[in-house]
Amino acid sequence: MKPSRELLVLVLAAGLGTRMKSSISKVLHKLNGKPMISHVLETTDKLKPAKTLIVAGRHNMRELKAMFPDREIALQGNPLGTAHAVLCGVKRLNDFSGDLLVLNGDTPLITAETIKGFISRHRRARNHLSIISFMASDPTGYGRIIRDRRKTPILIREEKDASPSEREIREVNSGVYLIKGDALGLLKRIKKNPLKGEYYLTDILELAHLKGYRCGVYPLGVEEEFLGINTKEELLRAQRLLRQRIVMKWVERDVAFIDEERVYISADAVIGPGTTIYPGVHIEGKTSIGKGCVIYPNVRIADSQIGDGVQLKDSSVIESALIDSDVVVGPFARVRPGSVIKKSARIGNFVEIKASVIGEGTKAQHLSYIGDAEVGEDVNVGAGTITCNYDGEKKHKTIIEKGVFIGSDTQFVAPVRIGRCSYIGAGSTITEDVPEFSLALSRVRQKNLKNWVKKRKKTRKGC
Ligand code: UD1
Ligand code: CA
Repeated sequence: MKPSRELLVLVLAAGLGTRMKSSISKVLHKLNGKPMISHVLETTDKLKPAKTLIVAGRHNMRELKAMFPDREIALQGNPLGTAHAVLCGVKRLNDFSGDLLVLNGDTPLITAETIKGFISRHRRARNHLSIISFMASDPTGYGRIIRDRRKTPILIREEKDASPSEREIREVNSGVYLIKGDALGLLKRIKKNPLKGEYYLTDILELAHLKGYRCGVYPLGVEEEFLGINTKEELLRAQRLLRQRIVMKWVERDVAFIDEERVYISADAVIGPGTTIYPGVHIEGKTSIGKGCVIYPNVRIADSQIGDGVQLKDSSVIESALIDSDVVVGPFARVRPGSVIKKSARIGNFVEIKASVIGEGTKAQHLSYIGDAEVGEDVNVGAGTITCNYDGEKKHKTIIEKGVFIGSDTQFVAPVRIGRCSYIGAGSTITEDVPEFSLALSRVRQKNLKNWVKKRKKTRKGC
């Protein structure tokens, strides 16, 4: 492949997308948590083009600009068809002599490998125009590739203009084109389609062929890559395919799935070998999971880093957190943003951790809230321990040094510091710092009133 300097990319996204029947712009509909067009843009970025230009319409310009502030966006004032959209983009490309790659913003499953293969074919053949075609199991809605008796591609016929026999053709236009700079002049010669009143980019093939330009139509890649999304049904189908593709990638890298159809893994996630994932698991954003972990049913992990050998038990939620190796979390635990759980710690059921560091080997097994705290290593956090970190106006810190034993049902009224290796008696409300190696108790001494019940003359049934 020649240097990518010669490559410019146009992503068409100005169509109204009426078949989507939605107030949201078609290319901004989400697929596996990310707008459809982001998938296309991330793929084209891998080609390292000299420039990528999005062609937006009046209806979605503002949204696209807000979503991609660093990208160049050209305006197609009126959506007069795909050829008109390309012209609107080309106007922004001065003195361009390389190859222009045109893609539809509604074809998010296409892979960089396929496009790279396409670029080499186009360049090796020194074509003026190249198009990717594919054999559609159901060609409905796609432009059909018409070849002459010698199999030379001569034109593309859109569904609406096709005769019944042309409609039988299964080789269809994927909407991916490479146009050599010298051939861009053809765009201006495309006439309005009388049936739809639009300028069809697909007409460029017939014009190029008649002019004697070198053209190639290549069936490349696999059908699913070219699924164009025009309806909600197709959006769901693409989402399913994308999900399968991601799962298969991790299966090949030794990740085990109990039910591969019921997991949701972001394309940006990384999972280590030997990890097992149960059904109902959601792995979102830029999450990384280490080797040999077990992620039990219905766990949601977002933008977090999980070390090796970690067990995340049923129905736990982990968001923007760092979990070191050999930690066990859950079931029913919540680890909130800014939390760091160090090696071999245990976070048990109904425990919530927020913006806190939990030291190595520390255990908080039952019913606790730890917020804005620094907990050292080998601390035992008794059941029902609460950090009272909020005074109604400000958040305050609780510092618990290493080796502390916290009896059950303790409250720490922050700011407060507990010195190392101290004990906190169960049921205490700690409002002052505790020096190291001390016992802190703050509950009222127990009183037993002898025969109080009898004197009350009201014994309970069975007493
Ligand atoms: C188009 C092709 C068809 C091909 C199919 C592949 C044309 C005429 N037809 O059909 O041969 O098989 O893609 O998926 O090109 N757009 C604009 N401005 C416009 C119109 C459309 O930017 O004025 C954009 C849309 O936002 C979309 C893309 O171009 O991303 C394709 O438009 P769409 O209406 O979806 O074309 P199809 O009917 O799918
Ligand atoms: Ca389409």
